[in-house]
Amino acid sequence: MSNTKTMKTRKTQVVIIGAGPSGLLLGQLLAKQGIENIILERVSGEYVLGRIRAGVLEQGFANLVREAGVAHNMDTKGEVHEGVEIAFNDERIKVNLKELTGGDTVVIYGQVDITRDLMEARSAAGLESVYEVSNTQPHDVTGEHPYVTYEKDGKTFKIECDYIAGCDGFHGVSRQTIPKEKRVEYEKVYPFGWLGLLSETPPVNDELIYCKSDRGFALASLRSQVLSRYYLQVPLSDTVEDWSDEAFWEELKKRLPKSAAEKLITGPSIEKSIVPLRSFICEPLQYGKLFLVGDAGHIVPPTGAKGLNLAASDVAALYEILTKVYKENNTECIAQYSEICLRRIWNGVRFSWWMTNMLHDFQTTKSAFDTRIATSEARYYLSSEAGKKVIAEQYAGLPYEKVK
Ligand code: APR
Ligand code: PHB
Repeated sequence: MSNTKTMKTRKTQVVIIGAGPSGLLLGQLLAKQGIENIILERVSGEYVLGRIRAGVLEQGFANLVREAGVAHNMDTKGEVHEGVEIAFNDERIKVNLKELTGGDTVVIYGQVDITRDLMEARSAAGLESVYEVSNTQPHDVTGEHPYVTYEKDGKTFKIECDYIAGCDGFHGVSRQTIPKEKRVEYEKVYPFGWLGLLSETPPVNDELIYCKSDRGFALASLRSQVLSRYYLQVPLSDTVEDWSDEAFWEELKKRLPKSAAEKLITGPSIEKSIVPLRSFICEPLQYGKLFLVGDAGHIVPPTGAKGLNLAASDVAALYEILTKVYKENNTECIAQYSEICLRRIWNGVRFSWWMTNMLHDFQTTKSAFDTRIATSEARYYLSSEAGKKVIAEQYAGLPYEKVK
C-alpha cells in the first residue's frame, strides 16, 4: 500500500461502497438531506444493470423510492398486485394480500429497472459515483478518522469520511472488515437451486403463482405484460447447459397447475441462469463507523421475495440514523442500527426459510415424516383465513421499525 500521505485525498461525509440498489437508494436519500456521499463500485454500470433479480417491492420499499424522488417509472410502469397464488399441483389458492392485510399490496417492477432509475437520478443530480474501482478498503473504522482507499486507472485514492456504508453485497469487502472475532455468521444452504428463464412473452397469469408440485417447485412471475420470468427448482448439480428452452418449457408445463399450463405462451429465452439458495445473517451489522447494508449483511432464498425488501429496510434505518446524526447532532442513535435491522431481517429470513421449506421438494435430504409435515403445514396455512393472513402480512411486508 503506497503511503496514504502521497495519495490523492478527498473528503466526504459518507462513503458508500457498492452501487447496487442498496447503495444507490441510500445515496439518493442522503443527498436529499444534504448529506454528502460518494459511491464506489467495483464493476461498470452496464454490468450492474446486467444482473437479473426479483422485482416484488413491498410498500415500504416503494415509499422509500418515492421519498427519494425516483418513483415516476415505478409508479407508471410497475404493476400493483393485490394478491398472489400458491398452487398444490392443480389446486390454486389465492392469498388476497389487500383484503388480508387491510390494504397492503406489492409493486411488481424489476430490480434492474429500479437500479437504472436510481443510477440515472444520481447522475442527473451530479452526485459522484466512481465505477470500475479496485482494491476498495475501509480503514480506521473504529477510530476518529475513518477513510476508504481504492484504486482506479493505476492510481490509488483516499477518501476521508465520517461514516462508511457497506452496500457491497455478499462478496464485498465490508463484512470482512469486521474482525472475525467480533462477528457471528449464521448460514443455511439449501440442497437445490433455482433455474430462471426470462422471455418476451405474455405472463401466464395476472399474479404470481408459487407452485408446489410433485415434480418440484416452480414459480410463474413477470416483469410486465410482455416480459415473463419463470423458475424451476433444479438439483445443485445441474448447469444452464443441461436445460434447453424446450426442456425448460416442457418441465414448467408439468409443474404449473393445469389451468395455468394450458395458457402458457412459450418463446425463446433472453436470459437463463441458475442461482443457489442460501440463508445468511451476519451479526452485528455495525462496527464503529461502518454499517453493513443489504446483501453485505444478509441473504435470503428468493422464495419470499425478501432480498431487495430487507435491503430497503436497512437503508431506511441507516437513512434515519444518519439524518439524526447530521441534522440533530444525535450520535446516540447509531447504536440502534444493528438491533433495529436484525429484528426485521430475522423475520424476513424466517419467512423465506419457511416458504422454501413448505414449497420445495427436499427429496432424500428431508425424512419422509418431515416431508409430510411440510405438506400438512402448507395445507393448513392455506386453508385457514388466519393462516393466509400470516402469509399475507409477511409477503406484503411488515412495517419498518422507527429509530427512537
Ligand atoms: N468495492 C466496490 N464495490 C463492490 C465491492 C467492492 N469491494 N464488492 C462488491 N461491490 C459491488 C457489487 O459489484 C455490486 O454492484 O457492490 C454491489 C452490491 O450490490 P448487490 O449485490 O445487488 O447488493 P444490494 O445492493 O444489497 O442489493 C440487494 O440484490 O442480490 C440482490 O437479492 C438481492 O435483491 C437483493 C439485492
Ligand atoms: C422474480 O420475478 O424474479 C421473482 C418473484 C418472486 C420471487 C422470486 C423471484 O419470490
